[in-house]
Amino acid sequence: MTQLTTASGIPVDDNQNSITAGPRGPVLLQDFHLIEKLQHFNRERIPERVVHAKGSGAYGTFTVTHDVSKYTKAALFSGIGKQTETFLRFSTVGGEKGSADTARDPRGFAVRFYTEEGNWDLVGNNTPTFFLKDGIKFPDFIHTQKRDPLTNLKSAQNVWDFWSRAPESLHQVTILFSDRGIPDGYRHMDGFGSHTYSLINDAGERVWVKWHFKTLQGIKNLSASEAQRLAGVDPDYAQRDLFHAIAQGDFPRWSVEIQVMDDAQRAAWEAKTGWDAFDLTKVWPQGEFPRTPVGILELNRNPDNYHADVEQAALSPSNIVPGLGYSPDKMLQARLFAYHDAQLYRVGTNHQHLPVNRPRCPFHNQQRDGAMAVANGGAAANYDPVHADVPAQGGFGHGDAGWPVEGNAGRYDTRAVDDHFTQAGDLFRLLSDDGKRNLIENIAGSLSGADAVIQDRQIGHFLKADPAYGQGVAEAVRKLQNQA
Ligand code: HEM
Repeated sequence: MTQLTTASGIPVDDNQNSITAGPRGPVLLQDFHLIEKLQHFNRERIPERVVHAKGSGAYGTFTVTHDVSKYTKAALFSGIGKQTETFLRFSTVGGEKGSADTARDPRGFAVRFYTEEGNWDLVGNNTPTFFLKDGIKFPDFIHTQKRDPLTNLKSAQNVWDFWSRAPESLHQVTILFSDRGIPDGYRHMDGFGSHTYSLINDAGERVWVKWHFKTLQGIKNLSASEAQRLAGVDPDYAQRDLFHAIAQGDFPRWSVEIQVMDDAQRAAWEAKTGWDAFDLTKVWPQGEFPRTPVGILELNRNPDNYHADVEQAALSPSNIVPGLGYSPDKMLQARLFAYHDAQLYRVGTNHQHLPVNRPRCPFHNQQRDGAMAVANGGAAANYDPVHADVPAQGGFGHGDAGWPVEGNAGRYDTRAVDDHFTQAGDLFRLLSDDGKRNLIENIAGSLSGADAVIQDRQIGHFLKADPAYGQGVAEAVRKLQNQA
Protein backbone atom coordinates (compact mmCIF):
# COMPACT_ATOMS: atom_id res chain seq x y z
CA MET A 1 0.00 0.00 0.00
CA THR A 2 1.26 3.53 -0.75
CA GLN A 3 2.44 5.30 2.36
CA LEU A 4 0.36 8.44 3.03
CA THR A 5 2.57 11.48 3.62
CA THR A 6 2.14 15.17 4.32
CA ALA A 7 2.65 17.54 1.40
CA SER A 8 6.26 17.76 2.57
CA GLY A 9 6.68 14.00 2.20
CA ILE A 10 6.66 13.12 5.89
CA PRO A 11 4.94 9.78 6.60
CA VAL A 12 1.55 10.28 8.27
CA ASP A 13 1.15 8.01 11.29
CA ASP A 14 -2.63 8.28 11.65
CA ASN A 15 -5.15 9.86 9.29
CA GLN A 16 -8.24 8.90 11.29
CA ASN A 17 -7.72 10.35 14.77
CA SER A 18 -6.72 13.92 15.67
CA ILE A 19 -4.15 14.40 18.44
CA THR A 20 -6.10 15.28 21.58
CA ALA A 21 -5.40 15.99 25.23
CA GLY A 22 -6.91 12.80 26.59
CA PRO A 23 -9.37 10.63 24.65
CA ARG A 24 -12.12 13.29 24.75
CA GLY A 25 -10.05 16.34 23.65
CA PRO A 26 -9.55 19.30 23.19
CA VAL A 27 -7.52 19.00 19.98
CA LEU A 28 -3.86 20.03 20.13
CA LEU A 29 -2.37 22.72 17.86
CA GLN A 30 0.65 20.52 17.34
CA ASP A 31 -1.32 18.16 15.08
CA PHE A 32 0.19 19.73 12.01
CA HIS A 33 -1.14 17.03 9.71
CA LEU A 34 -4.70 17.91 10.77
CA ILE A 35 -4.02 21.62 10.37
CA GLU A 36 -2.40 21.26 6.95
CA LYS A 37 -5.29 19.08 5.79
CA LEU A 38 -7.94 21.61 6.88
CA GLN A 39 -5.99 24.58 5.55
CA HIS A 40 -5.44 23.08 2.13
CA PHE A 41 -9.07 22.08 1.90
CA ASN A 42 -10.07 25.70 2.55
CA ARG A 43 -7.99 26.79 -0.42
CA GLU A 44 -9.05 24.18 -2.99
CA ARG A 45 -11.03 26.52 -5.22
CA ILE A 46 -9.71 29.01 -7.74
CA PRO A 47 -12.15 31.52 -9.24
CA GLU A 48 -14.14 29.97 -12.03
CA ARG A 49 -13.77 31.54 -15.48
CA VAL A 50 -15.92 34.67 -15.65
CA VAL A 51 -17.45 33.15 -18.80
CA HIS A 52 -17.18 29.57 -20.13
CA ALA A 53 -16.92 28.28 -16.53
CA LYS A 54 -18.27 24.79 -17.25
CA GLY A 55 -16.01 22.84 -19.56
CA SER A 56 -14.27 19.64 -20.58
CA GLY A 57 -10.80 19.19 -22.03
CA ALA A 58 -8.57 16.64 -23.71
CA TYR A 59 -5.17 16.38 -25.33
CA GLY A 60 -4.61 15.32 -28.90
CA THR A 61 -2.66 15.61 -32.11
CA PHE A 62 -2.86 17.88 -35.12
CA THR A 63 -1.59 16.31 -38.35
CA VAL A 64 -0.95 18.34 -41.51
CA THR A 65 -2.61 16.78 -44.55
CA HIS A 66 -2.31 19.62 -47.10
CA ASP A 67 0.42 22.07 -47.98
CA VAL A 68 -0.47 25.64 -47.00
CA SER A 69 3.09 26.97 -47.03
CA LYS A 70 2.16 29.46 -49.78
CA TYR A 71 0.00 31.18 -47.16
CA THR A 72 1.97 30.74 -43.94
CA LYS A 73 5.51 30.10 -42.83
CA ALA A 74 4.39 28.83 -39.40
CA ALA A 75 6.57 25.81 -38.65
CA LEU A 76 3.68 23.63 -37.52
CA PHE A 77 2.41 23.57 -41.14
CA SER A 78 5.84 22.95 -42.65
CA GLY A 79 5.31 19.46 -44.06
CA ILE A 80 2.56 16.99 -44.85
CA GLY A 81 2.34 14.43 -42.06
CA LYS A 82 3.84 16.79 -39.49
CA GLN A 83 2.26 16.37 -36.05
CA THR A 84 1.82 18.84 -33.21
CA GLU A 85 0.53 18.13 -29.71
CA THR A 86 -2.75 19.90 -28.93
CA PHE A 87 -5.13 20.57 -26.06
CA LEU A 88 -8.79 21.41 -26.60
CA ARG A 89 -11.21 22.78 -24.03
CA PHE A 90 -14.93 22.76 -24.81
CA SER A 91 -17.38 24.75 -22.72
CA THR A 92 -20.76 26.35 -22.37
CA VAL A 93 -20.72 30.12 -21.89
CA GLY A 94 -23.22 31.55 -19.43
CA GLY A 95 -23.54 28.90 -16.71
CA GLU A 96 -21.49 28.38 -13.59
CA LYS A 97 -18.97 25.60 -13.12
CA GLY A 98 -21.71 23.20 -11.98
CA SER A 99 -24.30 24.13 -14.61
CA ALA A 100 -25.89 21.71 -17.07
CA ASP A 101 -23.99 20.79 -20.23
CA THR A 102 -27.18 20.83 -22.30
CA ALA A 103 -28.05 24.53 -22.01
CA ARG A 104 -29.03 26.45 -25.13
CA ASP A 105 -25.80 28.41 -25.34
CA PRO A 106 -22.87 28.67 -27.74
CA ARG A 107 -20.14 26.10 -27.06
CA GLY A 108 -16.55 27.17 -26.57
CA PHE A 109 -14.02 25.46 -28.84
CA ALA A 110 -10.59 26.52 -27.57
CA VAL A 111 -7.64 24.76 -29.20
CA ARG A 112 -4.00 25.01 -28.17
CA PHE A 113 -1.24 23.88 -30.53
CA TYR A 114 2.05 23.28 -28.67
CA THR A 115 4.22 24.23 -31.65
CA GLU A 116 8.01 24.30 -31.81
CA GLU A 117 7.72 28.11 -32.01
CA GLY A 118 5.54 28.45 -28.92
CA ASN A 119 1.90 27.97 -28.06
CA TRP A 120 -0.75 28.98 -30.58
CA ASP A 121 -4.21 29.27 -29.05
CA LEU A 122 -7.24 29.50 -31.29
CA VAL A 123 -10.01 30.33 -28.82
CA GLY A 124 -13.24 30.04 -30.76
CA ASN A 125 -16.79 28.80 -30.53
CA ASN A 126 -19.04 26.31 -32.33
CA THR A 127 -20.48 29.24 -34.29
CA PRO A 128 -18.86 31.23 -37.11
CA THR A 129 -20.26 34.51 -35.75
CA PHE A 130 -20.86 36.29 -32.45
CA PHE A 131 -23.50 38.56 -30.87
CA LEU A 132 -21.34 41.69 -30.90
CA LYS A 133 -18.87 43.55 -33.05
CA ASP A 134 -17.22 45.73 -30.38
CA GLY A 135 -15.62 44.37 -27.19
CA ILE A 136 -16.72 47.39 -25.18
CA LYS A 137 -20.18 45.79 -25.01
CA PHE A 138 -19.00 42.34 -23.89
CA PRO A 139 -19.26 42.83 -20.09
CA ASP A 140 -22.78 44.28 -20.48
CA PHE A 141 -23.81 41.43 -22.74
CA ILE A 142 -22.48 38.80 -20.34
CA HIS A 143 -24.19 40.47 -17.37
CA THR A 144 -27.50 39.90 -19.15
CA GLN A 145 -26.68 36.23 -19.73
CA LYS A 146 -25.75 35.65 -16.10
CA ARG A 147 -27.87 36.17 -12.99
CA ASP A 148 -29.93 39.27 -12.27
CA PRO A 149 -28.35 41.35 -9.46
CA LEU A 150 -31.60 41.51 -7.47
CA THR A 151 -33.26 38.14 -7.95
CA ASN A 152 -30.12 36.07 -8.60
CA LEU A 153 -32.17 34.41 -11.35
CA LYS A 154 -31.49 34.18 -15.06
CA SER A 155 -33.60 36.84 -16.73
CA ALA A 156 -35.26 36.61 -20.17
CA GLN A 157 -36.13 40.29 -19.70
CA ASN A 158 -32.46 41.31 -19.43
CA VAL A 159 -31.36 39.03 -22.25
CA TRP A 160 -33.91 40.32 -24.77
CA ASP A 161 -33.60 43.91 -23.61
CA PHE A 162 -29.93 43.73 -24.54
CA TRP A 163 -30.36 41.83 -27.81
CA SER A 164 -33.24 44.00 -28.98
CA ARG A 165 -31.06 47.10 -28.53
CA ALA A 166 -28.10 45.40 -30.21
CA PRO A 167 -29.48 44.28 -33.60
CA GLU A 168 -25.99 43.19 -34.64
CA SER A 169 -26.73 40.12 -32.46
CA LEU A 170 -29.52 38.93 -34.79
CA HIS A 171 -27.43 36.53 -36.87
CA GLN A 172 -26.01 34.77 -33.82
CA VAL A 173 -29.41 34.78 -32.07
CA THR A 174 -30.82 32.99 -35.12
CA ILE A 175 -28.10 30.33 -34.91
CA LEU A 176 -28.55 29.97 -31.15
CA PHE A 177 -32.31 29.32 -31.30
CA SER A 178 -32.11 27.10 -34.39
CA ASP A 179 -31.83 23.31 -34.26
CA ARG A 180 -28.04 23.76 -33.99
CA GLY A 181 -28.43 25.66 -30.70
CA ILE A 182 -27.93 22.64 -28.43
CA PRO A 183 -25.20 20.28 -29.71
CA ASP A 184 -25.42 16.63 -28.64
CA GLY A 185 -22.22 16.60 -26.59
CA TYR A 186 -18.98 18.11 -27.82
CA ARG A 187 -17.94 15.50 -30.39
CA HIS A 188 -20.78 16.13 -32.81
CA MET A 189 -20.33 19.82 -33.47
CA ASP A 190 -18.09 21.97 -35.64
CA GLY A 191 -15.66 24.53 -34.27
CA PHE A 192 -14.68 27.93 -35.65
CA GLY A 193 -11.92 30.42 -35.01
CA SER A 194 -14.82 32.82 -35.74
CA HIS A 195 -12.72 35.98 -36.14
CA THR A 196 -10.75 36.92 -39.20
CA TYR A 197 -7.04 36.27 -38.57
CA SER A 198 -3.98 36.54 -40.84
CA LEU A 199 -1.54 34.12 -42.36
CA ILE A 200 1.89 35.42 -43.37
CA ASN A 201 4.21 33.57 -45.73
CA ASP A 202 7.98 33.58 -46.19
CA ALA A 203 7.78 36.61 -48.50
CA GLY A 204 5.94 38.58 -45.80
CA GLU A 205 2.65 38.47 -47.75
CA ARG A 206 -0.57 38.46 -45.75
CA VAL A 207 -3.86 36.78 -46.48
CA TRP A 208 -6.92 37.00 -44.25
CA VAL A 209 -8.19 33.69 -42.94
CA LYS A 210 -11.09 32.09 -41.10
CA TRP A 211 -10.55 28.74 -39.38
CA HIS A 212 -13.09 25.89 -39.52
CA PHE A 213 -13.08 22.57 -37.65
CA LYS A 214 -15.54 20.18 -39.31
CA THR A 215 -16.58 17.30 -37.07
CA LEU A 216 -15.89 13.88 -38.58
CA GLN A 217 -18.38 12.33 -36.15
CA GLY A 218 -21.30 13.99 -37.98
CA ILE A 219 -23.41 16.84 -36.63
CA LYS A 220 -25.89 15.85 -33.93
CA ASN A 221 -28.06 18.14 -31.87
CA LEU A 222 -30.54 17.79 -29.03
CA SER A 223 -34.16 18.89 -29.14
CA ALA A 224 -35.15 21.49 -26.57
CA SER A 225 -37.19 18.92 -24.62
CA GLU A 226 -34.45 16.27 -24.61
CA ALA A 227 -31.89 18.86 -23.50
CA GLN A 228 -34.16 19.89 -20.65
CA ARG A 229 -34.61 16.27 -19.57
CA LEU A 230 -30.85 15.64 -19.66
CA ALA A 231 -30.18 18.79 -17.63
CA GLY A 232 -32.13 17.07 -14.86
CA VAL A 233 -30.93 13.49 -15.11
CA ASP A 234 -27.35 14.02 -16.37
CA PRO A 235 -26.12 17.61 -16.14
CA ASP A 236 -22.58 16.44 -17.02
CA TYR A 237 -23.76 14.75 -20.21
CA ALA A 238 -21.12 16.27 -22.52
CA GLN A 239 -18.22 15.69 -20.10
CA ARG A 240 -19.28 12.05 -19.68
CA ASP A 241 -19.60 11.52 -23.42
CA LEU A 242 -16.19 13.03 -24.23
CA PHE A 243 -14.29 11.35 -21.40
CA HIS A 244 -15.71 7.88 -22.08
CA ALA A 245 -15.27 8.08 -25.84
CA ILE A 246 -11.58 8.89 -25.42
CA ALA A 247 -11.10 6.34 -22.62
CA GLN A 248 -12.57 3.66 -24.94
CA GLY A 249 -10.27 4.59 -27.82
CA ASP A 250 -13.05 6.17 -29.88
CA PHE A 251 -11.02 9.29 -30.63
CA PRO A 252 -13.01 12.27 -31.97
CA ARG A 253 -11.58 14.02 -35.02
CA TRP A 254 -12.14 17.25 -36.88
CA SER A 255 -11.04 18.28 -40.37
CA VAL A 256 -9.19 21.59 -40.00
CA GLU A 257 -9.96 23.90 -42.92
CA ILE A 258 -9.46 27.54 -43.88
CA GLN A 259 -11.24 30.19 -45.89
CA VAL A 260 -8.79 32.64 -47.41
CA MET A 261 -9.12 36.19 -48.79
CA ASP A 262 -6.25 38.30 -49.99
CA ASP A 263 -6.50 42.01 -49.37
CA ALA A 264 -7.64 42.83 -52.91
CA GLN A 265 -10.44 40.24 -52.59
CA ARG A 266 -11.37 41.72 -49.22
CA ALA A 267 -11.65 45.22 -50.68
CA ALA A 268 -13.69 43.99 -53.66
CA TRP A 269 -16.02 41.92 -51.47
CA GLU A 270 -16.55 44.80 -49.06
CA ALA A 271 -17.28 47.18 -51.94
CA LYS A 272 -19.77 44.72 -53.45
CA THR A 273 -21.62 43.74 -50.26
CA GLY A 274 -21.19 46.77 -48.01
CA TRP A 275 -20.08 44.37 -45.27
CA ASP A 276 -16.86 44.49 -43.28
CA ALA A 277 -14.68 41.38 -43.63
CA PHE A 278 -13.52 41.87 -40.02
CA ASP A 279 -17.04 42.11 -38.59
CA LEU A 280 -17.55 39.09 -36.33
CA THR A 281 -21.33 39.15 -36.83
CA LYS A 282 -20.87 38.18 -40.51
CA VAL A 283 -19.74 35.04 -42.31
CA TRP A 284 -17.76 34.93 -45.53
CA PRO A 285 -19.95 33.12 -48.10
CA GLN A 286 -18.44 29.69 -48.77
CA GLY A 287 -19.56 29.82 -52.42
CA GLU A 288 -17.16 32.70 -53.01
CA PHE A 289 -14.51 31.73 -50.46
CA PRO A 290 -14.46 27.91 -50.35
CA ARG A 291 -12.89 25.97 -47.53
CA THR A 292 -9.40 24.53 -48.11
CA PRO A 293 -8.37 21.50 -46.02
CA VAL A 294 -5.24 21.84 -43.88
CA GLY A 295 -5.13 18.90 -41.48
CA ILE A 296 -6.81 16.63 -38.97
CA LEU A 297 -7.23 17.30 -35.28
CA GLU A 298 -7.69 14.21 -33.14
CA LEU A 299 -8.34 14.08 -29.39
CA ASN A 300 -6.73 10.94 -28.00
CA ARG A 301 -5.73 11.48 -24.36
CA ASN A 302 -7.81 12.36 -21.34
CA PRO A 303 -6.06 14.62 -18.84
CA ASP A 304 -4.66 12.80 -15.79
CA ASN A 305 -6.24 15.35 -13.51
CA TYR A 306 -9.16 17.66 -14.26
CA HIS A 307 -8.19 20.58 -12.04
CA ALA A 308 -4.52 20.61 -13.04
CA ASP A 309 -5.10 20.42 -16.75
CA VAL A 310 -8.57 21.70 -17.55
CA GLU A 311 -9.43 24.13 -14.78
CA GLN A 312 -5.96 25.66 -14.83
CA ALA A 313 -5.72 25.79 -18.62
CA ALA A 314 -5.16 29.39 -19.65
CA LEU A 315 -5.66 29.87 -23.38
CA SER A 316 -5.50 33.29 -24.97
CA PRO A 317 -6.21 34.57 -28.49
CA SER A 318 -3.10 36.74 -28.12
CA ASN A 319 -0.95 33.58 -28.32
CA ILE A 320 0.05 33.30 -31.98
CA VAL A 321 3.30 32.12 -33.55
CA PRO A 322 5.38 33.55 -36.42
CA GLY A 323 3.49 33.11 -39.70
CA LEU A 324 0.14 33.84 -38.03
CA GLY A 325 -1.35 37.25 -37.32
CA TYR A 326 -4.34 39.12 -35.94
CA SER A 327 -6.74 41.38 -37.82
CA PRO A 328 -8.26 44.77 -37.04
CA ASP A 329 -11.51 43.10 -35.82
CA LYS A 330 -12.53 45.25 -32.82
CA MET A 331 -13.77 42.24 -30.86
CA LEU A 332 -10.54 40.34 -31.40
CA GLN A 333 -8.53 43.36 -30.32
CA ALA A 334 -10.40 43.50 -26.98
CA ARG A 335 -9.87 39.79 -26.50
CA LEU A 336 -6.12 40.11 -27.07
CA PHE A 337 -6.03 41.98 -23.76
CA ALA A 338 -8.76 40.20 -21.81
CA TYR A 339 -7.61 36.59 -21.47
CA HIS A 340 -4.12 36.92 -20.03
CA ASP A 341 -5.44 39.55 -17.65
CA ALA A 342 -8.23 37.20 -16.50
CA GLN A 343 -5.71 34.40 -16.03
CA LEU A 344 -3.33 36.53 -13.95
CA TYR A 345 -6.27 36.88 -11.55
CA ARG A 346 -7.86 33.45 -11.95
CA VAL A 347 -4.78 31.22 -11.96
CA GLY A 348 -1.89 33.46 -10.96
CA THR A 349 1.14 35.46 -12.04
CA ASN A 350 3.04 32.42 -13.25
CA HIS A 351 0.18 30.51 -14.86
CA GLN A 352 2.35 29.86 -17.92
CA HIS A 353 4.65 27.70 -15.75
CA LEU A 354 1.96 25.05 -15.20
CA PRO A 355 2.28 21.85 -17.24
CA VAL A 356 -0.85 22.44 -19.36
CA ASN A 357 0.25 25.98 -20.18
CA ARG A 358 4.00 25.55 -20.49
CA PRO A 359 5.34 25.58 -24.06
CA ARG A 360 6.79 22.29 -25.26
CA CYS A 361 9.69 24.19 -26.90
CA PRO A 362 12.49 25.88 -24.95
CA PHE A 363 11.52 29.35 -23.72
CA HIS A 364 13.58 32.23 -22.42
CA ASN A 365 12.24 35.50 -21.12
CA GLN A 366 13.26 37.93 -18.42
CA GLN A 367 10.09 37.67 -16.34
CA ARG A 368 11.07 36.41 -12.92
CA ASP A 369 9.71 35.58 -9.49
CA GLY A 370 6.17 36.07 -8.24
CA ALA A 371 4.03 33.40 -6.63
CA MET A 372 4.67 29.78 -7.66
CA ALA A 373 7.64 30.50 -9.92
CA VAL A 374 8.57 26.95 -10.87
CA ALA A 375 10.24 27.68 -14.21
CA ASN A 376 12.17 30.71 -13.06
CA GLY A 377 15.08 30.81 -15.49
CA GLY A 378 17.77 29.42 -13.19
CA ALA A 379 21.02 31.36 -13.55
CA ALA A 380 20.03 32.96 -16.89
CA ALA A 381 20.10 36.76 -17.11
CA ASN A 382 16.92 38.41 -15.83
CA TYR A 383 17.28 41.46 -18.07
CA ASP A 384 17.61 42.04 -21.80
CA PRO A 385 20.44 44.42 -22.66
CA VAL A 386 19.51 47.42 -24.81
CA HIS A 387 21.05 47.04 -28.26
CA ALA A 388 21.21 50.68 -29.35
CA ASP A 389 22.88 49.70 -32.62
CA VAL A 390 20.01 47.47 -33.82
CA PRO A 391 17.56 49.50 -35.88
CA ALA A 392 13.92 48.99 -34.95
CA GLN A 393 11.99 47.26 -37.70
CA GLY A 394 8.55 48.35 -38.85
CA GLY A 395 5.49 46.11 -38.70
CA PHE A 396 4.73 43.62 -35.98
CA GLY A 397 7.92 41.54 -36.28
CA HIS A 398 8.68 38.04 -37.62
CA GLY A 399 8.22 39.34 -41.15
CA ASP A 400 4.70 40.62 -40.51
CA ALA A 401 4.77 44.04 -42.14
CA GLY A 402 1.55 45.18 -40.48
CA TRP A 403 -1.55 46.45 -42.25
CA PRO A 404 -2.38 49.96 -43.44
CA VAL A 405 -4.77 52.03 -41.34
CA GLU A 406 -6.87 55.02 -42.32
CA GLY A 407 -9.05 57.64 -40.65
CA ASN A 408 -8.90 59.67 -37.46
CA ALA A 409 -8.52 58.13 -34.02
CA GLY A 410 -11.97 58.27 -32.44
CA ARG A 411 -15.11 56.34 -31.49
CA TYR A 412 -17.17 55.22 -34.49
CA ASP A 413 -20.75 53.97 -34.29
CA THR A 414 -21.67 52.29 -37.56
CA ARG A 415 -24.71 50.47 -36.20
CA ALA A 416 -27.26 52.82 -37.72
CA VAL A 417 -25.96 52.13 -41.23
CA ASP A 418 -24.77 48.52 -40.85
CA ASP A 419 -26.78 45.70 -42.41
CA HIS A 420 -27.62 43.40 -39.48
CA PHE A 421 -30.45 41.67 -41.29
CA THR A 422 -29.48 40.13 -44.64
CA GLN A 423 -27.27 37.30 -43.36
CA ALA A 424 -29.74 36.46 -40.54
CA GLY A 425 -32.56 36.42 -43.11
CA ASP A 426 -30.49 34.26 -45.49
CA LEU A 427 -29.98 31.74 -42.71
CA PHE A 428 -33.72 31.72 -41.91
CA ARG A 429 -34.58 31.17 -45.58
CA LEU A 430 -32.10 28.25 -45.77
CA LEU A 431 -33.89 26.31 -43.00
CA SER A 432 -36.39 23.54 -43.74
CA ASP A 433 -40.03 24.10 -42.75
CA ASP A 434 -39.43 22.09 -39.57
CA GLY A 435 -36.26 24.06 -38.90
CA LYS A 436 -38.11 27.36 -39.25
CA ARG A 437 -40.91 26.17 -36.98
CA ASN A 438 -38.48 25.00 -34.28
CA LEU A 439 -36.52 28.25 -34.48
CA ILE A 440 -39.68 30.32 -34.07
CA GLU A 441 -40.96 28.19 -31.18
CA ASN A 442 -37.61 28.24 -29.40
CA ILE A 443 -37.44 32.02 -29.67
CA ALA A 444 -41.04 32.51 -28.61
CA GLY A 445 -40.53 30.32 -25.53
CA SER A 446 -37.78 32.63 -24.37
CA LEU A 447 -38.98 36.00 -25.71
CA SER A 448 -42.36 35.58 -24.03
CA GLY A 449 -40.51 36.04 -20.71
CA ALA A 450 -39.72 39.68 -21.65
CA ASP A 451 -42.16 42.59 -21.53
CA ALA A 452 -44.24 43.77 -24.50
CA VAL A 453 -42.02 46.75 -25.41
CA ILE A 454 -38.97 44.52 -25.70
CA GLN A 455 -40.91 41.85 -27.62
CA ASP A 456 -42.05 44.45 -30.17
CA ARG A 457 -38.57 45.91 -30.56
CA GLN A 458 -37.08 42.46 -31.17
CA ILE A 459 -39.87 41.34 -33.51
CA GLY A 460 -39.09 44.46 -35.55
CA HIS A 461 -35.61 43.04 -36.15
CA PHE A 462 -36.93 39.61 -37.14
CA LEU A 463 -39.35 41.30 -39.59
CA LYS A 464 -36.46 43.13 -41.23
CA ALA A 465 -34.55 39.85 -41.62
CA ASP A 466 -37.56 38.17 -43.25
CA PRO A 467 -41.27 39.02 -42.94
CA ALA A 468 -42.13 35.34 -42.35
CA TYR A 469 -39.56 35.20 -39.54
CA GLY A 470 -41.02 38.25 -37.77
CA GLN A 471 -44.65 37.28 -38.29
CA GLY A 472 -43.94 33.73 -37.14
CA VAL A 473 -42.33 34.87 -33.89
CA ALA A 474 -45.08 37.45 -33.26
CA GLU A 475 -47.80 34.80 -33.67
CA ALA A 476 -45.98 32.22 -31.56
CA VAL A 477 -45.43 34.71 -28.73
CA ARG A 478 -49.11 35.78 -28.87
CA LYS A 479 -50.21 32.14 -28.75
CA LEU A 480 -48.06 31.40 -25.71
CA GLN A 481 -49.36 34.46 -23.91
CA ASN A 482 -52.99 33.57 -24.64
CA GLN A 483 -52.34 30.16 -23.14
CA ALA A 484 -50.80 31.62 -19.98
C1 HEM B 1 -14.41 41.20 -26.51
C2 HEM B 1 -15.11 40.12 -26.28
C3 HEM B 1 -14.69 39.05 -25.32
C4 HEM B 1 -14.10 39.14 -24.11
C5 HEM B 1 -13.69 40.41 -23.37
C6 HEM B 1 -13.92 37.79 -23.61
C7 HEM B 1 -13.38 37.46 -22.39
C8 HEM B 1 -13.19 36.19 -21.91
C9 HEM B 1 -12.59 35.86 -20.65
C10 HEM B 1 -12.08 36.86 -19.64
C11 HEM B 1 -12.56 34.51 -20.56
C12 HEM B 1 -12.02 33.68 -19.40
C13 HEM B 1 -10.57 33.35 -19.66
C14 HEM B 1 -9.95 32.57 -18.54
O1 HEM B 1 -10.21 32.87 -17.37
O2 HEM B 1 -9.17 31.64 -18.84
C15 HEM B 1 -13.12 33.97 -21.76
C16 HEM B 1 -13.21 32.64 -22.07
C17 HEM B 1 -13.54 32.17 -23.30
N1 HEM B 1 -13.97 32.90 -24.39
FE1 HEM B 1 -14.18 34.88 -24.46
N2 HEM B 1 -14.39 36.90 -24.53
C18 HEM B 1 -14.87 37.62 -25.60
C19 HEM B 1 -15.40 37.13 -26.76
C20 HEM B 1 -15.33 35.82 -27.15
C21 HEM B 1 -15.61 35.32 -28.48
C22 HEM B 1 -16.04 36.19 -29.64
C23 HEM B 1 -15.39 33.98 -28.45
C24 HEM B 1 -15.48 32.98 -29.54
C25 HEM B 1 -15.49 33.27 -30.82
C26 HEM B 1 -14.96 33.63 -27.12
C27 HEM B 1 -14.62 32.36 -26.71
C28 HEM B 1 -14.19 32.04 -25.44
C29 HEM B 1 -13.88 30.69 -25.03
C30 HEM B 1 -13.98 29.44 -25.87
C31 HEM B 1 -13.47 30.77 -23.69
C32 HEM B 1 -13.06 29.61 -22.81
C33 HEM B 1 -11.58 29.33 -22.99
C34 HEM B 1 -11.20 28.08 -22.25
O3 HEM B 1 -11.79 27.02 -22.55
O4 HEM B 1 -10.35 28.15 -21.34
N3 HEM B 1 -14.94 34.76 -26.35
N4 HEM B 1 -13.51 35.01 -22.57
